[in-house]
Amino acid sequence: MTNSTLPYASRLSALPPYLFADLEKKTAEKIAAGRDVINLGIGDPDLPPPGYFTRSLQMHVADPDAHFYPTSRGDPDVRKAIARFFKGRFGVDLDPESQICVVLGGKEGLSSLGRAYVNPGDIVAVPSPAYPVYAQGITALCDAQTQVMPLKSENGFLPDLNLAEGVRALFVNYPNNPTGAVATEFFWEQLADFADTHPETLVCHDHAYSEMTFGDYIAPSLLQYTKNCVEMHSLSKVFNATGFRIGFAAGRADIISGMVRVKTQIDSGAPLFIQRAMADGLLSYRGTEPPPEVEKIRRVYGERRVYAEKALALLGLDVTHSEATFYVWVRVGDDEMPFVERALDHDVVVTPGRGFGAEGIGYIRLALTQPLPRIEEALHRLV
Ligand SMILES: Cc1ncc(COP(=O)(O)O)c(C=O)c1O
Repeated sequence: MTNSTLPYASRLSALPPYLFADLEKKTAEKIAAGRDVINLGIGDPDLPPPGYFTRSLQMHVADPDAHFYPTSRGDPDVRKAIARFFKGRFGVDLDPESQICVVLGGKEGLSSLGRAYVNPGDIVAVPSPAYPVYAQGITALCDAQTQVMPLKSENGFLPDLNLAEGVRALFVNYPNNPTGAVATEFFWEQLADFADTHPETLVCHDHAYSEMTFGDYIAPSLLQYTKNCVEMHSLSKVFNATGFRIGFAAGRADIISGMVRVKTQIDSGAPLFIQRAMADGLLSYRGTEPPPEVEKIRRVYGERRVYAEKALALLGLDVTHSEATFYVWVRVGDDEMPFVERALDHDVVVTPGRGFGAEGIGYIRLALTQPLPRIEEALHRLV
């Protein structure tokens, strides 16, 4: 019998240390001590899912076939429903047989995609700041290397695609986490041109926030501009359904097939009742118009955003204005950590920008996942 620790696979050492551990520890200590902590750190919606969505879920749990193994690609009827939604919402025709795959949330879809296409030593172009899964869950866990594409305020937080020349895979995300930025028409065209002229590169658009837009802004799909890509969609955010783990990938049939091959070895598909609730959720759209319950959710996040942008600007901070997402990206100086610590001293949790990559240093991200009065209270505490 030996007491030595079994070493992790070497790829785990490529994952950076968990930056938020200290922040989370301090937050937990404060809560345990009975402090009134306002957490604007987590992008997990506080609002409940739309009632019609949960009622659909409850109904489908009792379907006589709901207890069987689902399939990794997703139920054929659910894929047909996704295709109908996609046609109405984006005006894009998808073949439900070959161009759609149901995923257990965008995160699973992205990592399955990586497993299918990224070889050890490959270069993967990832934005910075960005959702950390591109650099870590995909690139590091596939023993690959990142090519960083900085997102800078002066460029509207859009990457320079020249930096992605020759890479194996390229990930972008608009509306964007963490900056809230949306892409311009010109950028979509540039990206489509890149996808069409770079057959060696897998181009993935992560559309996790496609429905979280406000005012007149409607987010397009990259598939409106090119067929040579794959796009990841999620019901997590605007359906307030992060815990249901459901979404879908859409795009080029060969790319979808690669993902499905990985998924058949790893998962056996999303539970059928959750897939069917997703289908009901999406089919309630009328073209680009969401059902009233989803519209109401958008309105609530939109109001919070308007308030937070204005209040932070009044504090003299450099706020990134946007018509999308519940994230507010704020420049607070050259080093954001003193601001983050000071906020914590006032029992307010905000995310340091460096958690999203080195280009995030000097920024904080506020997730507007608290009721408006709590956001107001948090910002008052920061004064
Ligand atoms: C940009 C982005 N992509 C994907 C995801 C994953 O979403 P889910 O796995 O819940 O569908 C998130 C979640 O925060 C995100 O911010």
